[in-house]
Amino acid sequence: MNEIPTSAGDSDHHVLFDRAASILRQNDRGDYTVPTHGLYPYQWNWDSCLVALGQAHIDESRAWREIETLFAHQWDDGMVPHIIFHEADDGYFPGPDVWQTARPTPTSGITQPPVAAFAMKKLYEQARDTELAKARAQTLLMKVDRWHEWFVRCRDPQGTGLVALIHPWESGRDNSTDWDVAFDRVPTDGVAPYQRRDTKHANPEHRPTQAQYDRYIWLVEHFRSLGWDNSRLHDASPFQLVDPGFNAILIRSCLDLAVLAEALDENSIAEVNRQRAGRGLAALESLWSDSHGQYLCHDRIIGKPVDSPSVGGLIAALAPIPEKRLEAIVRRLDTLSSRCEYLVPSLDPADDRFDAKRYWRGPAWLIVNYLIADGLLVGGQEAMARRIQRASLALIEQGGFAEYYDPISGEPCGGSSFTWTAAMVMEIVAAEQ
Ligand code: DGY
Repeated sequence: MNEIPTSAGDSDHHVLFDRAASILRQNDRGDYTVPTHGLYPYQWNWDSCLVALGQAHIDESRAWREIETLFAHQWDDGMVPHIIFHEADDGYFPGPDVWQTARPTPTSGITQPPVAAFAMKKLYEQARDTELAKARAQTLLMKVDRWHEWFVRCRDPQGTGLVALIHPWESGRDNSTDWDVAFDRVPTDGVAPYQRRDTKHANPEHRPTQAQYDRYIWLVEHFRSLGWDNSRLHDASPFQLVDPGFNAILIRSCLDLAVLAEALDENSIAEVNRQRAGRGLAALESLWSDSHGQYLCHDRIIGKPVDSPSVGGLIAALAPIPEKRLEAIVRRLDTLSSRCEYLVPSLDPADDRFDAKRYWRGPAWLIVNYLIADGLLVGGQEAMARRIQRASLALIEQGGFAEYYDPISGEPCGGSSFTWTAAMVMEIVAAEQ
């Protein structure tokens, strides 16, 4: 059971916790929370689920509502979109007029890392009000199961055991080097003229490039021309990337949903999710690279691994991977820590493409740190998990609650007063008590 920390000996962390809680309140829009004011004015899928972990320390009912609001906008086919455009706001591009998904409340047409079940299991297990948690988990269970089923049906049509992303925004790691080679084959012809808004809110040097943005938009327009029909999008996409981090999140969420389902006597949901996880875990092994000592992405279109030592291969620690793989990931993290001050850089600083301040091409992100540390703790790698947690709090103490951080200087980058960064701090501090 986590409670707001009160220990006098940890007054600095207590202050951090309170500052984090006030960011959550500031970005709370009632039934959902915006990632940050200005840059991201709507509800984002994985932001919300991870933010619920922070909210639970203040108001458990509100935490469940965050996830319920997201699932109220689940598509009929089972997909849970990456953005819900609750209220009109012209500060963000691409808005509903570009996506044109014809939903009652406009949404985007792609998804995001499925952390819902991972978060729900934590809310459930840490609940102070167990009856409330039971009731709220019960109503979400079936919906989350439908989302998991959607992944298998629509993003793994060949039954490989691993799902593919059809747009970099689905990964949450928008401009990672993992997508560079695949992006060479995404055209830009015919993209309607547009104006970016992100570069008005954040330093353009910290954001994706124009060439990448043109391709993001080309893919959106391409899927839109196919009527957002998920039975066609995977095969019709020139971008089909199998990301070990994303798949590990899905595997872990299937297992977490299975545990929840068992606790709620929903045994068939438990069984099918365990099967999904088992198939995913077996197939994940095909993404292991001995030469890099970590998992790598796989480009499904050309049938080749992607030579890019990104954090996607380390997020795999979140799934119950074999012990020798987890140990190798710990060794990688140790090597990375000798190349930068703050774990965990989103790309190995030794890679030529490393860019310390540009979004997912180098910076450290607290949500990633949290996911990796959680996997390490579950796998018994406590020392490295604690190092990551300490680095995370050091970044906040020096730079405030930013979107991400330069892993060498610790400089805060991107948006500020960032909700999920704050939620992760609350989690780390509360766990110390
Ligand atoms: C953005 O707009 O930068 C987001 O990451 C996509 O959802």
